[in-house]
Amino acid sequence: MSAEAEPMTTPGHEKWWRDAVIYQIYPRSWADSDGDGIGDLPGITARLDHLSSLGVDAVWLSPFYRSPQNDAGYDISDHRDVDPVFGNLADADQLLDTAHGLGLRVIVDLVPNHSSDQHPWFQAALTSAPGSPERARYLFRDGRGESGELPPNNWPSNFGGSAWTRVTDNDGKPGQWYLHLFDVTQPDFDWTNAEVEDQMESVLRFWLDRGVDGFRIDVAHGLVKAEGLPDAPDDHNAACDDTSLQPMWDQPGVHEIYRRWRVIVDEYSAKAEGPDGDRILCAEAWVSPAQALARYVRADELHQSFNFGFLMTAWLAPALRRIISESLAAVEAVGAPQTWVLSNHDVIRHATRLAYPQVDGDSPSGGIGIDDPQPDAALGLRRARAATTVMLALPGSAYLFQGEELGLPEATRLPDDSRQDPTWERSGHTIRGRDGCRVPVPWSGDSQSYGFGPSEASWLPQPEEWASLSVNRQEAVPESTLELYRTLLHERRGLRLGRGSLRWLEDYPADVLAFTVSTLDGTTILILANLGTTAITLPKGAQVIVASDELFGDDEVPGDVTVWARLGAL
Ligand code: GLC
Ligand code: MG
Repeated sequence: MSAEAEPMTTPGHEKWWRDAVIYQIYPRSWADSDGDGIGDLPGITARLDHLSSLGVDAVWLSPFYRSPQNDAGYDISDHRDVDPVFGNLADADQLLDTAHGLGLRVIVDLVPNHSSDQHPWFQAALTSAPGSPERARYLFRDGRGESGELPPNNWPSNFGGSAWTRVTDNDGKPGQWYLHLFDVTQPDFDWTNAEVEDQMESVLRFWLDRGVDGFRIDVAHGLVKAEGLPDAPDDHNAACDDTSLQPMWDQPGVHEIYRRWRVIVDEYSAKAEGPDGDRILCAEAWVSPAQALARYVRADELHQSFNFGFLMTAWLAPALRRIISESLAAVEAVGAPQTWVLSNHDVIRHATRLAYPQVDGDSPSGGIGIDDPQPDAALGLRRARAATTVMLALPGSAYLFQGEELGLPEATRLPDDSRQDPTWERSGHTIRGRDGCRVPVPWSGDSQSYGFGPSEASWLPQPEEWASLSVNRQEAVPESTLELYRTLLHERRGLRLGRGSLRWLEDYPADVLAFTVSTLDGTTILILANLGTTAITLPKGAQVIVASDELFGDDEVPGDVTVWARLGAL
């Protein structure tokens, strides 16, 4: 099986985003400028040089808009303003300027599926009558049962419990129910309403006018619900394997929305000259299989979509080979580049996911607590370095999550009373949630809050072991994870691996991933990842460019190590 990259002559092939490495900053947790224990925009601006020296192309910022912070900013009450905890609009402008000055593009988060319950629209809906235009911006429905005491359908909230909450009318009596696929403070918009559409388009323009280079679209597969809001199928597992069976996910109507948005961003891209001026849209769509996901990146829709299938694949060579092949074939069919991602602010960090026994089709999720089996940290880090070394060689664009360049593991022993993810409460303390990947980043091992801010405050406690993982302890240490990432990003850029074409090699054991990437200048690079336990010998004459950990001798690749090597013509 091979998946060839498009020939260089394809129009648009040279676009920056087709092989960009994009670094996700979770603003609460990256750098705090004012010592309140919460990261902020001035903190980010002051540290952007970390990203230029790392060698990424762009940064994606999770939401920093006005928000009561019930879901860490994904509950927005004003899409056109910065929450005071993060700074103000002038700080956002400053961040954009500084990033652009360093050659970094800036992608911001757009949350179109829902607002905060504190959004003026929802507040107006609460005090307005059923059937009013104010209620029509959200999904209010009468309940089932004799007196409307049952929710309108059986949909579950992603954070646990029902997706419906009943409101109290002005006269104090129980009234209608409203839909929230997430927290009770995150009411879903009704995307059949033109007013909703218009407001979100104006939000897009607001940030494009301020100079952002693109948007990551939150819950991109959720905006449109099946007509009549029918019950979800009972067999939850069957429904999860194929998102099209779910009445709240991946409805055909979402594609209409993205076609309209594409016209808007293209209008801005057209104002810039050359391949570098594109503004882009990237979907967060938990949609499977890969062909269904590829529909989001058809030529007149979004530019990219996160490849969560890759993220959820176990550290097993046959499973990885399958998902890589399927992912490349699916987007090739629509002419889009693939994206690759291993960690983000919603999942267990890959240095910890890979620290457990690997089972095909099973990706640990839901967070880890002190009474759960604890990870084998050294094994997890070794595999994480090897997995990243595979990922950064693959054709397409890659997303990194803050701290993975330090090899940060999930914080698995957070005190439960420090948890802030609404999942923990809504699941009745059965699902720990996502706080473990959101712990503030350690910058200098010797300072209070490990240099996260100028005080000892940190909105989630940082594990003691993180002192030794901090940026200043890894800088210039050749075998550190930070220096490995720098080397990988530098070599990837120089070789233009993200533009290359991949071909699998067949002469290796089943627990080895072996492929070549042929780059645009005609060089063939060998990528060998040993997921087994027996060392593998590199072909004669191969020159190692980078290895995720030490080799045995010059040419023996031990288990859980990935190598990039230069080959002559094969
Ligand atoms: C997305 C975000 C997640 C958030 C949810 C609701 O999945 O990545 O953090 O909780 O949407 O907005
Ligand atoms: Mg702060």
